[in-house]
This record gives sequence, structure tokens and C-alpha cells, in this order.
Amino acid sequence: MAIASDAFIPDLIQLSAMTQPTIESILQEDRVFSPPAEFSKTAHIGSFEAYQGLYDKANADPVAFWEELADKELDWFEKWDTVLDWQPPFVKWFEGGKLNISYNCLDRHLKTWRRNKAAIIWEGEPGDSRTLTYAQLHREVCQFANVLKGLGVKKGDVVGIYMPMIPEAAIAMLACARIGAPHTVVFGGFSAEALRDRLVDGKAKLVVTADGGFRKDKTIALKQEVDKALENDGAPTVENVLVVQRTKEDIHMDSRRDHWWHELQKDASADCPPEPMDSEDMLFILYTSGSTGKPKGVVHTTAGYNLYTHMTTKWIFDLKDDDVYWCTADVGWITGHSYIVYGPLSNGATSLMYEGVPRPSNPGCLWDIVEKYGVNIFYTAPTAIRALIKLGEHLPNARDLSSLRLLGTVGEPINPEAWMWYHRVIGKERCPIIDTWWQTETGGVMITPLPGATPTKPGSATLPFPGILADIVDLEGNPVDDTSGGYLVVKHPWPGMMRTVYGDPDRFRRTYWEHIPPKDGQYLYFAGDGAHKDKDGYFWVMGRVDDVISVAGHRLGTMEIESALVSHPAVAEAAVVGRPDEIKGEEIFAFITLEADVEPSDALKNELKQHVTGEIGAIARPGEIRFSDALPKTRSGKIMRRLLRSLASGQEVSGDTSTLEDRSVLDKLRSGA
Ligand code: PRX
Repeated sequence: MAIASDAFIPDLIQLSAMTQPTIESILQEDRVFSPPAEFSKTAHIGSFEAYQGLYDKANADPVAFWEELADKELDWFEKWDTVLDWQPPFVKWFEGGKLNISYNCLDRHLKTWRRNKAAIIWEGEPGDSRTLTYAQLHREVCQFANVLKGLGVKKGDVVGIYMPMIPEAAIAMLACARIGAPHTVVFGGFSAEALRDRLVDGKAKLVVTADGGFRKDKTIALKQEVDKALENDGAPTVENVLVVQRTKEDIHMDSRRDHWWHELQKDASADCPPEPMDSEDMLFILYTSGSTGKPKGVVHTTAGYNLYTHMTTKWIFDLKDDDVYWCTADVGWITGHSYIVYGPLSNGATSLMYEGVPRPSNPGCLWDIVEKYGVNIFYTAPTAIRALIKLGEHLPNARDLSSLRLLGTVGEPINPEAWMWYHRVIGKERCPIIDTWWQTETGGVMITPLPGATPTKPGSATLPFPGILADIVDLEGNPVDDTSGGYLVVKHPWPGMMRTVYGDPDRFRRTYWEHIPPKDGQYLYFAGDGAHKDKDGYFWVMGRVDDVISVAGHRLGTMEIESALVSHPAVAEAAVVGRPDEIKGEEIFAFITLEADVEPSDALKNELKQHVTGEIGAIARPGEIRFSDALPKTRSGKIMRRLLRSLASGQEVSGDTSTLEDRSVLDKLRSGA
């Protein structure tokens, strides 16, 4: 059994015109939306000149720029000795400093009027709700930190968090941060297998979960997946499991290992001083997909991440004290870490958390929530916007959305039509839209409009955040100064950047720093995205240039899915590509060669789709499978993915096919035989 793999960086992939504009059309986009004057008047950064001033200041002396902000915006137990220690590709920020991010997110607000301000407003899918003030959240976090300590969790021990979108997920994260136990949050939609891989790689000592959660009118049985992940000593480092009671469904509790959250929490002391953490102490590991191998553990540390998420939240979302801010992401992804939990709470904001998603029984639920809580700032993914467009304008039009003042998108390129719909139907042509480009690795937003300052164009993430030296280069690292496009890179370290791949510094170096060589002694962070700059210097991010695909904004490695497929006994060889999808951006298309004695059938296709769901999770389930006698390969045995991508999207196979070993394979694939 073989896993298909080919050259690491294929040609820049052009996404189809169905969800993506063509390069020609974007570079001619002439719709420009200036920040509304009313908005700019009160914005933190209220003019383009102000943005440029900050950008130039940061560019001239990035170290002084970040040092000034660290001093002004965060609370420290001890100040740093050095601001930046850059030994490429390894970076340290604010070495010698001591702080605790849970202190910055909680304790410091208790000394102010924010003590009784809502920190988290939570809405459950069945319609239940809860509000936690800063004082209440602080108490819960301290108690839970003591629960963790009581179960032997010490500074440096990794804690797995596998939760639905309930306040306890944020409480668990902050409690870990308080005692210096790095968390690794695993998205609740991942399967037991995927959870086990992450717990094993992270050497997690304890897992926090729930009996289940509510999603799309159903319950998801999380504890059952944890049991499966841990059976037969699957993750031997895990000693205890803490279980929140959410759905109240029957679950198995192993008395030697499993504990109910509410039973331990109620007797725990609310006195838990924050652990003074070194700036570079690990805050969390978050697994994300890459081109090769298993998902990698992206490591973020304390001070740089705290500062970067704090500043980006403040300036990009233009937070005001009475704002209700809502990011619809799940805490299982980086967006949830940075922009539901750490960034907003560090700023003393009110962060809304929702357990569910739009579903047949309540397709207008997002707009109900905007109306119910008077949401001012709304941040979601293009996939969600496209799905909402399909559901119809009558749903938002039937609700009062007048509280909204700022809209954001993240996770994938947004097509101009979706952007215009968002602007017109949701923003009523008065809310700025921020299209924010960033990654798990970058910790926070990197390229984005500042809503009171930057004129926007539908489909462009516009310009870099102050302090971010982003550029577009060719494979030799030469800047591409015209509009022809190239690879997105960052030229100077920034505080929120990932520090390493957990347990594999070589992989960190290989993946991000070696594809493009240093230019004039300057190391270039390789993001893995293709991008163009237009005549105004605006960035247009086109999507991944490696074997990573984005399905409904979820990042998946084609090789992970191929590995899952070939682990099924019927499969001899598999190659997975992304096919453009009107709503999800991309859909998974798998080409499969079966073992000699296996008959192709629709039942087998379904079985294989189910198999991938079991191995990774429903987000990785192929939309379509095509069986084939053989896959198109070069004479040296590499799968020609470019051809498969064309076939999957129903396009004529164009370009050079002279290196193809057996041309008849292509004809058979075309006919689906
Ligand atoms: O391809 C880019 C796409 O999402 C990738 C990062 O995925 P992940 O680490 O899961 O983080 C997603 C949330 C930050 C990027 O390499 N991406 C993210 N935002 C945008 C985007 N592509 C285009 N425009 C964006 N605004």
C-alpha cells in the first residue's frame, strides 16, 4: 500500500472562478469602500495616515515598537531583560520577563469597573444561556485550577481539552494557563483516533471533556470518543479525565480515572494565585495539518502571544468598552484561542460564545443571537457567509441587526460576491468589513484592514498589520514587485509567531524556513499561501500552494486523508485533491486504486467515506470518490496531482502531460472507468 506524494510545492494552484475570482478580475477590482466617517471618528486608528504612521514606526524599529506596547498594554510581574533574541529560525521575545496570561485576562480587570462586566455571554444550542462576569469567571478559573492541581497537574504538564462550545472550555484553558500547564485543545469534531494521536504526541497528563455537546439538533458523544482514544492504554500518559455534564446522556465513568467536573469544582478553593510564567514558557500546543505526515503541534508561548493577540484584537476589532463582540469560531481552532478567549479577555471585552451552528430547525439562529444580545462586532468564515446567502436574505431581513458596527471574515479567501452580500445584507452598507489573513502558526491576524483607517476592496485582505513585514516573493526569495504573484512570506519576527513544532524543531525549520532561502541574510517565514499584490500594494491571498486543502475553512492535509484511506484493507493507493465547492470553498475528492481482488461498488465508496470519518472526523469525509485502475504518474513514479485537480473539477486537462508514464490512464480517469 502506498501513499501518493509528489513535489512539495506544486505550481501556484489557481482556484476556480466558481468560488474564486480570476487573477485578472481581482487585479482590476475597482470597487473601493472607504471607512465610514462616523466609524473613523471614534476608532483606535482613525485614518490611513495614522495606520501608515504606525506601520512606518514599527518598520523603522520593530523592537522598540513592540517593547513600548508590551510596557503599556500588559501587566508584568517582572519586566524583561531583552526584547528580541532572534537566532533564525528560533525566536525569543521579552526574555527574563514574568507574567501570567490568565492574570492579564482576568485579575487585572477585577481592580476596575469591569469586575462586574460580562466577560463571557454564552448561548447553548437548545436555547439555554449563561453570562459570566469577570469576577465570576475569575472564580471559576481559580477553582478549576485547584481541581487540576488536586489531580496532580503541575507546571509544564500538558492537558488535553476536548469540549463542546461551552464556557467550561474557556475556563479550562484559562485554568491551565494560570498554573502553567500548557493546553492542547482538540476540536470536538475530531474522531477518537485523531484525539489519541494528539494526546500521545503531546504526552497529555489529563483530559478535560464533556459527556457530549449539542450540534445541528443532535448530540455529539464526546466522552465516548475519549474512552475509545484511551482504550487499551491508547494514550498511556493520561492519568485522569474530567467530565462536564452537558447533555446528561448516559456515559460510562471509570471510577479510577474519570471525575465529574461539577463534583470536584464545587468544593475547590477559589484562591489560586497565578503562576509567574517566563515569557517564553509554553502556553499551548495546537495541532494543525501540513503537507506531509501527521498534524504538527504548533507551539505558542506566553508573552509574545499575549501581546500579539491583545494588540490585534484591540486595533482590528476596534474594541470599545460597551461592545458585545462575537466570533463564531470553535475554541478547537486558533481563531477560537486568539479571538474568543485570549485576545478579547485580555482587553476586558465581552466575548459571546455560541454552542451551535445554523441548522434546519433554526436557520436564522445567528441573526436571532445578534438581535437578542445586541451584537456589535461579528466575525465569521466565508464558508458560513456563503451558506447564509443560500438560506436567503429574508432571514437576516426579519431581524434587527442595527447593533452591528463591524464585520469580519477569516479562514479562507472570500469571493467578492460573498463580500458584497455581507456588506449589503448584513452590514446594511454602513459596517466596515475586515478580511483577516492569518494562520495557526502566526498566532494572530497578519494582513487585514484596520476598520477606521483602511479603504477596503471586496476579496482583498488589504495590508499588513503594523510590525508585520509581509511580502510576496519567488522561490529564490526575490520580491515580486509587479502584480504577477508569488509566495507569501514574512521578513521579520513578530511576537505572536509559533516557536517550534512540538518535539520536532527540525520539522519547524524544514517546513517554514527552508523552501525559500534567506535573502541578503534575512530569513523569510514561508506561509504556504500564494498571493498577488495589486497596483495599490494590496494583498490578495489566493490559497495554499502546498498539499493542504481548506474544506469549509478547516485545514486538512491531503496526505492525512490518503493515509486514512490506505489504512482500509480494500485500498491499494489513494490520491486526494481539493475540488472547488460553491459553499465550502473546497471539497475533498479522492482517487482510489483498489486491491486486485476487490470489486468497486457504491457501497464500498460509502464504507470508505465512513472509514475516513472514523480515522479523522466528519470534516475529512470525502465528498466524492472515484475508483481507477491506476493513477497518473510521472516516469519517476510521482502522482501528477495537477491533472487530478483538473479532472476533479471537471476541467479540461491542460498544460504539459509529456512526463506522464501511461497516457491511457488519463483517458480512463476522464471517463470514470
Ligand atoms: O490558506 C490560508 C487560509 O487559512 C490558512 C490557515 O489556516 P489555519 O491555520 O487553520 O488558520 C485559519 C484561521 C486563522 C492560511 O494559510 N486563510 C486564512 N485566512 C484567510 C485565508 N486565506 C485567504 N484569506 C484569508 N483571510
